[in-house]
Amino acid sequence: LSDLLAEGVAGRRVLVRADLNVPLDGDKITDDGRVRASVPTIKALADAGARVIVTAHLGRPKGEPDPKFSLAPAAARLGELLGTEVALASDLVGPSATSVVGALTDGGVVMLENVRFDARETSKDDAERAALADELAAFADAFVSDGFGVVHRKQASVYDVAQKLPAYVGGLVEAELKVLKKLTDDLERPYVVVLGGAKVSDKLGVIANLLAKVDRLLIGGGMAYTFLKAQGHEVGTSLLQEDQLDQVKGFLTEAEKRGVELVLPVDVLVTAEFGNVEHDVVGTDSIPADKMGLDIGPKSRELFASKLADARTVFWNGPMGVFEIETYAGGTRAVAEALVKSDAFTVVGGGDSAAAVRALGLPEDGFSHISTGGGASLEFLEGKELPGISVLES
Ligand code: 3PG
Repeated sequence: LSDLLAEGVAGRRVLVRADLNVPLDGDKITDDGRVRASVPTIKALADAGARVIVTAHLGRPKGEPDPKFSLAPAAARLGELLGTEVALASDLVGPSATSVVGALTDGGVVMLENVRFDARETSKDDAERAALADELAAFADAFVSDGFGVVHRKQASVYDVAQKLPAYVGGLVEAELKVLKKLTDDLERPYVVVLGGAKVSDKLGVIANLLAKVDRLLIGGGMAYTFLKAQGHEVGTSLLQEDQLDQVKGFLTEAEKRGVELVLPVDVLVTAEFGNVEHDVVGTDSIPADKMGLDIGPKSRELFASKLADARTVFWNGPMGVFEIETYAGGTRAVAEALVKSDAFTVVGGGDSAAAVRALGLPEDGFSHISTGGGASLEFLEGKELPGISVLES
């Protein structure tokens, strides 16, 4: 970004790809972390006299306009944070976008409607994505990639457009990479990773890779049950990814071989139906056949906290339970509090974990870094190439 600012941007049209994929309740933003994180780059450009055009996605609409996924709440919030109106075009590259961009003045900021309302954005067909990228590029003189949470996606507004315009790394992407590199380069040990959330399948790659790097791996949340089952426990009606059992069994063996301490919950909160607040606490060796686990139990919370106490570096991704329901927020809170207490280098990655930290009212400055990227930070740690980054380096 500093290169672009040094070149001078006054009067130039700059297309900024941001990640404004915020959780919504109706049209209310329940966690505006990503909008706040997008402000510094946009403000720096606007303050320097650029005409800023923001493009972003929200959710996973089906390649056509869908009011549920409008960026209107994000545009309004961005306007509040910038202290200026951010006009939202009602389309992406159509007449409304053309007129909104045409009306931009120096230092002004506008937003295009959800880029995923156009099926070409996420198309696997290079030519389709390139065609959309051409239309987006026609609006601007330069491109700034600042949507860290989406740099792992090879999509038109992330990847292809960077080949159509002079392209620059945004301040947020720069800052995120700088911090995450500390987790791949010379980190201080013990290095402890805490993984949770529901989808084991999304995290299989990262687990395989992490086993070669970490000293200790703590597994909670929905994904813990596949691990418990792989260890021979019955998990009742808890979330279970049967098709991943063999691979998870392989991880258990691999962890042992490498001397990685794999820590699983020893007790859980169980209930008969998802969402019920009435629950029992049971050991993980006695989960009833007709019940499901929705949070790690009190002994597990203590165990996890004790396994974090001597850590020097911690990466945490994924809640320990259904934290949106207060009854099942205790496990996630315990991990978050242990990290706040710790003087290790602590990184929270992932929309859900970051939102949990804020929803539970924990101080954001209690962590060394809260990443705006979930999948992106995991893929970075996995050592995968991030298309939205490599395209800027090529
Ligand atoms: C995220 O929420 O992790 C990013 O905004 C990317 O969204 P996606 O997983 O729908 O591509």
